[in-house]
Amino acid sequence: MPPSPVIVVCAVTLISVLVKVLLIYKRENVLDNVLSLPDCAQLVTSGRLKIPSSLSNWWSKVDLFPSHAGKEIVRPVLFDNIPAVLKLKRLPEKCLSIAETIRGTQTTPLEHVRRSVQANYHEGVTEPLLNRIESEDLESIFCRLQQPEYFFLLWASLLKRSSPHFPRLLGTCGEVYIVENVEEVLNEEFIRSKSWNEMQPVINSFISLTEHLNHVSIQLCDVKLDNFGWDPSTQEVKMVDLDTAFFTGSLQEQFRERQCVSDEDCHLFSCRGCCDVPNRKCLVKIADNNLVRICREIFAPRFMEMGLFSGAPLAKKERLFKLAKNCGRFQMDWSDFRSAYQPEIAQ
Ligand SMILES: Nc1ncnc2c1ncn2[C@@H]1O[C@H](COP(=O)(O)OP(=O)(O)O)[C@@H](O)[C@H]1O
Ligand SMILES: [Mg+2]
Repeated sequence: MPPSPVIVVCAVTLISVLVKVLLIYKRENVLDNVLSLPDCAQLVTSGRLKIPSSLSNWWSKVDLFPSHAGKEIVRPVLFDNIPAVLKLKRLPEKCLSIAETIRGTQTTPLEHVRRSVQANYHEGVTEPLLNRIESEDLESIFCRLQQPEYFFLLWASLLKRSSPHFPRLLGTCGEVYIVENVEEVLNEEFIRSKSWNEMQPVINSFISLTEHLNHVSIQLCDVKLDNFGWDPSTQEVKMVDLDTAFFTGSLQEQFRERQCVSDEDCHLFSCRGCCDVPNRKCLVKIADNNLVRICREIFAPRFMEMGLFSGAPLAKKERLFKLAKNCGRFQMDWSDFRSAYQPEIAQ
């Protein structure tokens, strides 16, 4: 006799609760390890870092940021009483240490860290960044620099003219970094809650973001709503997940020597490459750009999912969807897109 539906539902609920509890315990353990790092423990004791425990009220909010797959920890905290997020990327094992990677290189630890950063992020490595390495605990910064998001946040914080599109890096301790909490995360609820007029500054900020990224040669390869936030005080879009950002040259390097039978084999998350089919090798060429990805993944609605253009008035919807589709298909640049978009909203 098959089990009754009530038993099946109860069993499924029980299993999912158990899995959640296990996940919380695992996360708390990771957090415990992090907090036993001397620098982090110091921040907590001095009261600069406050971490609300999820164990004390696990049944209410299991995780405020449930959809993180690439990071081991994404935890809302208070840093100097500012709402912030504590982050640690999931690394294949643990961070590579200086001791295990320096062997046989006949160089100093400082030079070794500098060279490793240069080898990974070539065009982005600036003089202020190299100088900064010297002033930090080498082993900790070496580990943090293995987390691309930390690299980009540090890089952006050292720019002469700061960019409004990078969240502020507030602090670090050991392997983890602490970043400002961007007030609103983009998702379907965000789209539903905004009128078409309120959505205009968001769309305009995305266009400025692509212009800025062009200027600094950064490619975003994980373009989806919840990897962006909206800061109402600055009226700017901010990039809240930079783990799959690349300087253009580094992204091209990712394509080199990759084997393929079709273009799809040369895609890296949302970044598209091209297959040289006769030679079965990916071309060292990026086949799309940031705006194309934003049009495709953020502006246009996708199957069963809303995009920022979904809230447009009926009379404009068809033309705007077409614009987003064309931009998502062809290599449109931001100034052409802006010229095509402005008249659509002016009418
Ligand atoms: N600085 C931030 N401010 C506000 N929300 C954030 C911030 N960083 C991350 N989040 C939220 O947490 C989610 C997971 O963080 P993310 O860095 O994207 O992790 P993963 O790399 O695992 O995807 C994001 O999609 C976003 O909703
Ligand atoms: Mg993410």
